[in-house]
Amino acid sequence: MSDFRTPPIKRHEALIPLSRDHYVGLVHANRMKKSATADRVARHKAIAEFLDAWKSEIEPHFRDEERLLIPLIQDESDRRRLLDEHARLREGAGRAANERKSIDPDPGFVEGLGRDLEQHIRWEERVLFNSIQDHATADQLEHLSKLTAEVERARNRGRIGDEQERSGDP
Ligand SMILES: [Fe+2]
Ligand SMILES: [Fe+2]
Repeated sequence: MSDFRTPPIKRHEALIPLSRDHYVGLVHANRMKKSATADRVARHKAIAEFLDAWKSEIEPHFRDEERLLIPLIQDESDRRRLLDEHARLREGAGRAANERKSIDPDPGFVEGLGRDLEQHIRWEERVLFNSIQDHATADQLEHLSKLTAEVERARNRGRIGDEQERSGDP
């Protein structure tokens, strides 16, 4: 995770609020992956915590990306990938709500959902966001900065971030 916490490429300020959301996503992805080899209590906890974050932060983040970034993405294949992966993860969140009710949530499912979420975020951080900040005009980035500043104000930050910063996990 060190590559994410100390990004090698400078993130444009317009994208920083969305990059901060990614930290929350990675925490939950990691917890779900780890819970796959733990007991059912750990899996229930990982799923319950993911679903809370999904509702309050992750799904709103997906909607913000679709609203704010899609118009700035140059490659049709990148636009497609963003939307396809969001759709797949929304499906995963739907299934997670069912798995939460089962006696022993499926380890393979929980592991896969964690991995899908992590890979999606890593692609955005390593490829998509760099491409957006390299190709957008100064005006577009200025406009985006205003909109993402609103996103930042609307987020309920701190809970997971602070706790994880202190423990050094993930
Ligand atoms: Fe995304
Ligand atoms: Fe994202």
